[in-house]
Amino acid sequence: MLQGKKILLGVSGSIAAYKAAHLIRLLVKEGAQVKVVMTAAACDFITPLTLSTLSKNEVLVSINNNQSWNNHVMLGRWADVMLIAPASANTLAKMAQGLCDNLLQAVYLSATCPVCFAPAMDEDMWHHPATRNNIEKLLSYGHRQIPVESGELASGLVGEGRMAEPEHIIDFLHRHFAAPRSGGQTSQPLKGKLALVTAGPTVEPIDPVRFISNYSSGKMGIAIADALAAAGATVKLVLGPTRFGPTAPNVETIPVKTAADMFNSCIANYPMADIVVMAAAVADYRPKVIVDRKIKKEDEGMTLELEKTHDILRTLGNNKGTDQLLVGFSLETNNEKEYALKKLHEKNLDMIVLNTLNDEGAGFNHDTNKVTLFDRNGKETAFPLKSKQEVAKDIVSAIIELQNA
Ligand code: CTP
Repeated sequence: MLQGKKILLGVSGSIAAYKAAHLIRLLVKEGAQVKVVMTAAACDFITPLTLSTLSKNEVLVSINNNQSWNNHVMLGRWADVMLIAPASANTLAKMAQGLCDNLLQAVYLSATCPVCFAPAMDEDMWHHPATRNNIEKLLSYGHRQIPVESGELASGLVGEGRMAEPEHIIDFLHRHFAAPRSGGQTSQPLKGKLALVTAGPTVEPIDPVRFISNYSSGKMGIAIADALAAAGATVKLVLGPTRFGPTAPNVETIPVKTAADMFNSCIANYPMADIVVMAAAVADYRPKVIVDRKIKKEDEGMTLELEKTHDILRTLGNNKGTDQLLVGFSLETNNEKEYALKKLHEKNLDMIVLNTLNDEGAGFNHDTNKVTLFDRNGKETAFPLKSKQEVAKDIVSAIIELQNA
């Protein structure tokens, strides 16, 4: 699927630079042409020789090369996509500021192709407000972020900030090249509209090692964000922890963890939104107290006291402006239609998307879904089992229809 694609890989100084070797192998195996630019710091983690052997191209590190000048402008123009992986906190900061003190930055600033980046850093650096601001800036430039993953970090801590696995980066590139490019879209009925979408699970900590969550992969909401973007909307995607992410260029991802984070992001972005789709599987309850040390097992049983989270959708429904269109989801196991209609009316929605776990291939973690749409005018539309991308298109078509009604 990447046959003939020209990939310009920027490797910056992070322990994850070792994964660049595997990433290049996968790219070359798919038939992509790969050229690599490294920072000097990246060379401390993996050698240019390794990456040039695997990419079958000379690897560039500095602006001067044996008294000749490396033409960073032409490199940026050569590529179909510039992929910065790993993107260290330092490199992200320089990109956000437009600094140009090494070849990678010069190439980045000259690149006329789409830019994707796969951040890699320790969890605290990842959550630092400076990093968050830099990411937001980069997304506002139209760049796409490949979601970070959770797991063991170089510091020995376990948390968010790991670079996406090379296989997941390849997956992202497949979707990047498969998605309709902006400008290539002939029909953009949602041009000028701002859409707010939530997707994925929320994670509610119990203590430093345990949490309450659910099986949501975020794929349905992400597909809706991409479909709204393909229809011309500018999209903000409030995304709970998942390794998947959007591919469309006009989707800005706002990563969140807990139901409270999701609530805050939704409230902050709601006033500007024309269309809101709440596809996230938000925790209804969270531990009343988050214990700051690992809970030791002592007694035979244990009771965890939970408290209700905010019902985000209900809050949005209660504060809905006359021109805002609000869509919710209803995942049920029984009395499906009754519960879905109850949510439609009680949460003041314009449309609700019902999916039931009783349908084979529907709901969490599948690549397919089977939905029935109920709108505020009493219209009911049942669809067969389809890919989540196709389901997303059906939902967006129904949104457009409701907007024009
Ligand atoms: N939702 C929300 N905030 C919550 C819980 C749910 O915004 N704290 C949203 C979901 O994103 C979904 C809709 O409300 O769009 C319905 O969620 P669902 O879990 O099906 O229903 P609940 O209202 O939580 O009711 P119940 O769990 O009792 O079925």
